[in-house]
Amino acid sequence: MIAIKNRCSGVRAESPLLQPLAKQLAIQLKLPSLDPDQPVESDTLYLQYQPDGLHIIWENRGKPLGFQIDFTSGLYRRRLQTGGKNQGLAKAIGIKGNHMPTVLDATAGFARDSFTLASLGCEVTLLERSPILAAMLAEAIDRASYDHEIADIIARMTLHSIDAEEYLHYLASNNQPKPDVVYLDPMFPERRKKALVKKEMQILHQLLGNDDHQPYPLELAMTVATHRVVVKRPRQAEDLNEKKPSFRVIGKSSRYDVYLTEISD
Ligand SMILES: C[S@@+](CC[C@H](N)C(=O)[O-])C[C@H]1O[C@@H](n2cnc3c(N)ncnc32)[C@H](O)[C@@H]1O
Repeated sequence: MIAIKNRCSGVRAESPLLQPLAKQLAIQLKLPSLDPDQPVESDTLYLQYQPDGLHIIWENRGKPLGFQIDFTSGLYRRRLQTGGKNQGLAKAIGIKGNHMPTVLDATAGFARDSFTLASLGCEVTLLERSPILAAMLAEAIDRASYDHEIADIIARMTLHSIDAEEYLHYLASNNQPKPDVVYLDPMFPERRKKALVKKEMQILHQLLGNDDHQPYPLELAMTVATHRVVVKRPRQAEDLNEKKPSFRVIGKSSRYDVYLTEISD
């Protein structure tokens, strides 16, 4: 957790009007509040409030790369149109007809998969252990909740800034309602040809580095999910934790490994 924070050098405001917001977030994340008049060092990651919301910027040798989670942008809207209930993710989750499982997305990231599932009608709980990403997600969810075209989708998304293992232990050991499905999307290893990697993935790798290459709580998830655990993998990758799934839904570049659980469908 501390390592992730250290990779983000602070919170900045693009204009003096946004400074109070930046200061408030800096306090919340226990990060420095950066002076908007001071130039930012090269090879630095920071959060920046701009008039259209919160961005993460990577000052990459004089070429800043920026990204904002924006559920109204094309990146997310495309997900409303492509595939519907026939797409691999929907099949793997177990969406059938009007049956919409409840999903715990234990590795929320930029919430593209959560948004897809919520747009199909699933209630989705999102867990993100990077406090920086969780802050970006919280701000994006809040902003999108005022957009009447997607407000109903956003209302199906509940975010917790927490490590999945901690949350799964809490669900396993308490008399709490359990999700039908736990979804895990571990980071793919960084690709060599950086130009081919989309800018948001470059920034994600900068932010999380090797912190994300860790054992994923597949076995624990299987004690919590009432129906199935779904793991997204690169098409050719080995099984997560060397555990063979019940079946696979195979796509062009990735696949979904489905582990049916005890109280299964
Ligand atoms: C590949 S990204 C997920 C992308 C996401 N499916 C999407 O559609 O945008 C993996 C994310 O999982 C988060 N993560 C990794 N381990 C975690 C854990 N134990 N608990 C919560 N989040 C975790 C990482 O911080 C990262 O943001």
